[in-house]
Amino acid sequence: MKNKVVVTGGLGYIGSHTVVALLENGYEPIIIDNLENSSLEVINGIFKITGIKPSLHIIDCKVYIELETVIKNIEGICGIIHFAAYKSVNESIEKSYAYYENNILSLINVIKIADKYAIENIVFSSSCTVYGNPLEQPVTENMPFGEITNPYGKSKMMCEEILKDFYISSAKHKVISLRYFNPIGAHTTGLIGELPNGIPNNLLPYITKVASGKLAKLKVFGNDYNTKDGTCMRDFIHVCDLADAHISALNYANSKENKNYDVFNIGTGIPTSVLELITTFEKVNNIKIDYEFTKRRAGDIESIYAKTDKAAETLSWKSKRNISQSLKDAWNWELKNNKHD
Ligand code: UD1
Repeated sequence: MKNKVVVTGGLGYIGSHTVVALLENGYEPIIIDNLENSSLEVINGIFKITGIKPSLHIIDCKVYIELETVIKNIEGICGIIHFAAYKSVNESIEKSYAYYENNILSLINVIKIADKYAIENIVFSSSCTVYGNPLEQPVTENMPFGEITNPYGKSKMMCEEILKDFYISSAKHKVISLRYFNPIGAHTTGLIGELPNGIPNNLLPYITKVASGKLAKLKVFGNDYNTKDGTCMRDFIHVCDLADAHISALNYANSKENKNYDVFNIGTGIPTSVLELITTFEKVNNIKIDYEFTKRRAGDIESIYAKTDKAAETLSWKSKRNISQSLKDAWNWELKNNKHD
């Protein structure tokens, strides 16, 4: 059986946890990463967890020839998981062209290579951001794309459209977009986790930096939303559950004959407020977080959480870890990685 899987962005946050999950499930990951938003040290963490150092190619997916030089020499590739992308909402507003160039060109190169070298399965990192500001909760995969206000989100929506058209025109591939909700946490060993560049934009990395005293105070953006405690609601999912979803997606694609394009929500289905996340962090880790309420952040969505039945029924995947586990693992990772700041 072909068991090699190309993982673009395999040293990144979700990519590295997925590489570990692939190794633990009998796949042979081949990592491609340009180190723009990741560190070479991650490979050591993967090795310490699994005892295996996967092959690593420091190249840029934007450059087709670099991708082809790697792929053309490898036999037995069953799939590509495409993570490599820019992911900051704020930055995407300032550097829209860079986001479209990086996120779209990389995807085009990935599908071009999959087509030329008959790589059957493609799994794409999409985001719940494609739902925009949803009118109904929980969101289901058959809801239309929402109004998306930033180039990062638009690039994810465009990539999904490109993949759908690619599947139709090629009819030789099984293509899956996974719409991630809010990934948090780290590997329980504390050997891999999230390594944000500079001051984090996302909530949990900011909380852990306040907890460790590296940042003074957390700003909670808005407590006047129409939610149970006035703060935004999100579907926070442990990164290892998210990683497992990629294995389920690949197993599913490998096991079926039909070529098609499919989309799955990958979340827990449980809404948690920003305030609940903070207070649960304090409780499970026995540490105080200094925070204050400030005005809403532009572009934030009041509430979004997933309906996860489709992934459960079709992929036989469900999240297993709860918020407390995610928050303990995130704190463990922060404590073990002080040297990165
Ligand atoms: C958004 C996207 C997500 C994307 C991510 C990438 C949506 C629904 N989600 O996540 O798909 O992968 O960006 O960056 O569009 N918060 C604070 N203080 C902080 C930081 C955050 O109060 O210092 C609040 C935010 O206002 C928000 C919540 O925490 O209500 C989560 O924010 P964040 O972690 O940035 O993720 P999203 O914006 O939900």
